[in-house]
Order: sequence, then structure tokens, then C-alpha cells
Amino acid sequence: MLQQTNLADSFTVPGTSLTVNRMGYGAMQLAGPEVFGPPRDVDTAIAVLREAVESGVNHIDTSDYYGPHVTNQLIKQALHPYPNDLCLVTKVGARRDEKGGWIAAFSAKELTLAVEENLRHLGLDVLDIVNLRSMLDVHQPKEGSLEAPLTALAELKHRGLVRHIGLSNVTPTQIAAAQEITPIACVQNIYNLTQRADGGLLDQLAAQGIAYVPFFPLGGFTPLQSVVLDDVARRLEATPMQVALAWLLQRSANILLIPGTSSLAHLKENLAVADLTLPPAELLLLNGVA
Ligand SMILES: NC(=O)c1ccc[n+]([C@@H]2O[C@H](COP(=O)([O-])OP(=O)(O)OC[C@H]3O[C@@H](n4cnc5c(N)ncnc54)[C@H](OP(=O)(O)O)[C@@H]3O)[C@@H](O)[C@H]2O)c1
Repeated sequence: MLQQTNLADSFTVPGTSLTVNRMGYGAMQLAGPEVFGPPRDVDTAIAVLREAVESGVNHIDTSDYYGPHVTNQLIKQALHPYPNDLCLVTKVGARRDEKGGWIAAFSAKELTLAVEENLRHLGLDVLDIVNLRSMLDVHQPKEGSLEAPLTALAELKHRGLVRHIGLSNVTPTQIAAAQEITPIACVQNIYNLTQRADGGLLDQLAAQGIAYVPFFPLGGFTPLQSVVLDDVARRLEATPMQVALAWLLQRSANILLIPGTSSLAHLKENLAVADLTLPPAELLLLNGVA
């Protein structure tokens, strides 16, 4: 298949040689129900990953705790040996219990193990970007020191196992404190059309050139629902999910998208957003949704 160019333009992650298209892909939906165990349809999961990369996606978000291990193993099976420009971004800081619960795994030993397992399951010698995922509260950013786990992760970077460090589920105070310890390449927090608590932070990071990677761009486990979104989508002959992604792309140039899907049809729909421009009047309506 021919590569699409310009998947909503590229972004160079600050302090790195990593340039990625702004339209990426989040692999979490490829694991089984509740992000636990294998997918119902392995062949489709592999096909989704290959289609994404063949279409020009060069930024894939993953973690070894998805499954656990499942999405990384699928990525390796589908895409290894990787194209030179493919940036795989992973997360550490959590692990799963035997029932699929999410547990903090913040000790230096656990973080080292997590980096080693990501490397092994992805088939890599070094990880491009590793996000430290705060688990002080599993659902939302919560103040508290991240100094110890971040120092441990910085040591793994020093050892050459990690190229760049990012943060996830964090507050502005934690980001500022982290920048005293190590450069921060990107921040991955929840943000979408209806959940905009991070608006100020997003603008601050844009001013510093730091990538902001919203998770749950489509609402995650609770898909976005809005009459305004539906109306705008109808007028633009797009789907509501496409409009929600286009709104994020137009919100700020430092936003990198990683919508998750286990469906080839949804993947194609999401990638097509690169060609969707929201007119000012529709943007204004969408800005008023939250
Ligand atoms: N740092 C963190 O704490 C954190 C937390 C959560 C997620 N993440 C990352 O962020 C990525 C994105 O988040 P997410 O996947 O949880 O949520 P999301 O992208 O907001 O939404 C995914 C949901 O939307 C559906 N969907 C996708 N495209 C669609 C379309 N075009 N039309 C209709 N439905 C569509 C998917 O179902 P189908 O599979 O049926 O398409 C899935 O149920 C994840 O893959 C993961 O890599 C990070």
C-alpha cells in the first residue's frame, strides 16, 4: 500500500531526534476485555497494527502491563523488525494482579523489571520513550513526590536502556519537580472534548515545546457523547469520533493523538481525520461543549 504523507503533520519531540506524525495509535485496545488477557481476534489485532504503520503511523503507545505483555507481544509479532522511523512509547509504574487489577509498581526493582520486560517483549535493546505513570491515584493525577521512581528511571536512562523519559497522570507541580531531575519529553494525561481539566497545563507545555499526548481522546471506556458533536459531525459529513479527534488536532500543535481501536474500520476512520479541518464556526461550538 502507498504511504499516506502528512498524517496531520509531524512533531519533533523536544531534546530528541524523534519526529513523529501527530496522528499515532494507542495499542491498549488490542488486549482482551478490561485490558486483560489476549484479544478475541489475534489476526485482526495484527492487521490493525500493520495497517496503521503502512498508512504512515510512526508513533505507537503501549505498555507491558496491557494484557499484561499482550500488546507488546502483538506489536513485536506484527511489526518486528521495526521501520527505522517507528517510535514505540511505553509506560512503567504499574503492574496487574491475577484478577486484572492495577497496582502501583514504583520501586527501583519493579521499574527495572518493567523496563527489561518491555525491552524483551518488544524485541528492542533500548526504548525510545518511557513514561512514568503515576499511580498515586489510579484514575487521576494526585499530588505527591515522584522523585524516587523518577530517579530510578533516570538511572535506567543513564544505563542506556531508555532514550527519553515522559510522565503520565501527573500534575503541573510534579512535572516541574521532574524537570529538575531529568528532561521530560512528553506528558500523557486524560484530555478530550468533554474532559478539559488540563487545558492550562497543555498550554504551558506547548510554550515549552513538550508533547502532550491525551489518553482517552475518544472518551476511553465511556465513549464521548454530545449533541453538539453529533450536529457538527452531520454538517461536516464526518463521524462524531472523527470530529472529536480533529478538535484535538486543532486545539494545540503539541498534541499527539493515540486513539485506540481494535477495529480496522475504526482505524481507517481515525486516520482519515488528518484530512478533516474544522471551520471556525464549528470549532467555536465545540469549544463550548465542556
Ligand atoms: N497513560 C494512561 O494512564 C493511559 C490510560 C488509558 C489509555 N492510555 C493510552 O491511550 C490510548 C487511547 O486511549 P483508549 O484506547 O483507552 O481510549 P480512546 O482512544 O478514547 O477510545 C477507545 C474506544 O473508542 C472506540 N473507538 C475507536 N475509534 C472509534 C471510531 N472511529 N468510532 C467509534 N468508536 C471508536 C474503541 O472501540 P473499538 O476497538 O471497537 O474501535 C474503544 O472502545 C490507549 O490505547 C493507550 O495506549 C493511556
